[in-house]
Amino acid sequence: GELYEPEEENPMLGWRGASRYYSKEYIDSFIEDSNLQEVISSISTACKTISNSVRLAGINDLLGKTGDINVQGEKVEKLDEFANNTLINQLSKSKKVFMMGSEEIESIILPQPENPNAEYIVVFDPLDGSSNIDVSISIGTIFAIYKKINSNQQDVDNLLQKGNQILASGYTVYGSSTVLCLSIPNKTSLFTLSDNQEFFLTTENIVHGDSKVYSINESNWNKFTKGNKLWVNKLRSGELGKYTARYVGSLVADFHRNLIKGGVFAYPADPKSGIGRLRLIYECNPLAFIAKQTKGRATDESEDILDIKPSALHQRVGLYIGGKEEIDIREKII
Ligand code: AHG
Ligand code: MN
Ligand code: MN
Repeated sequence: GELYEPEEENPMLGWRGASRYYSKEYIDSFIEDSNLQEVISSISTACKTISNSVRLAGINDLLGKTGDINVQGEKVEKLDEFANNTLINQLSKSKKVFMMGSEEIESIILPQPENPNAEYIVVFDPLDGSSNIDVSISIGTIFAIYKKINSNQQDVDNLLQKGNQILASGYTVYGSSTVLCLSIPNKTSLFTLSDNQEFFLTTENIVHGDSKVYSINESNWNKFTKGNKLWVNKLRSGELGKYTARYVGSLVADFHRNLIKGGVFAYPADPKSGIGRLRLIYECNPLAFIAKQTKGRATDESEDILDIKPSALHQRVGLYIGGKEEIDIREKII
């Protein structure tokens, strides 16, 4: 047969298709407050460190569990702990953070040293998709940034803000590429981590795609309400068009795919207890904010996720999130 002749300029090696903007220059150009710029830059630095650790986890003894149980009652993975510490240390270094909240930590986290005069609050799920760590499937970091509502370092109300108070939110997915999604009002963009450790702008002003995909763990079928069974059966029947099922088991990866391609993710609350699987503050609100900026929507069943007043730091809610049309379709059916 014929020998494969590579193109003169190998598209794999150049920056073709990617803007030459580093994320920092680009982000700083539309965020006025230099303190907020620094908070975002600290998060992106932490995500680079986490990305490298995820990629090399098998070599650096970072797979498996620590032996501890976290506030969620779940076994802590070594990488959960590593990612959590990386974010806390990096955000502390920025000196711009007043208080933090993490899925892995029971109560308020103050930076060390403390910054009683700083204004910003950061909440995060340091590593989402823990069950996928050991099997090299996409996982991610989810975060949101708020302003403090008072200067009391002991006041948990600073963390219990509604999602509609978010100033900026985002996630980094450690997938076949490491991609950072950053969302501020009217601007949601994707950045790809290069081999020289810079985030390059790769998609500007993204909006939800329109592919017909549903992401639901159907093993929970017996706990679904009649309405949800009706909805999922309609999706399966083909009468609303041909849907396909995709469920990674890492919310961040399922959301990322549905954002780019289109689709809907659902993790209903247990109808008996009313309690969901996913955490309002660390997972649902940051992604709901992104959805809102990208022609998407998120609800818990009865109201918009962003309108729920959190009553506890680790509150779990039902989540339906995706392209606006998909969420509307469900509401018409149930
Ligand atoms: P975490 O790893 O941060 O605890 O979150 C896991 C979450 C979420 O990422 C995913 O969508 C969901 O749990 C998967 O739950 P099931 O295994 O019940 O489907
Ligand atoms: Mn999670
Ligand atoms: Mn987690």
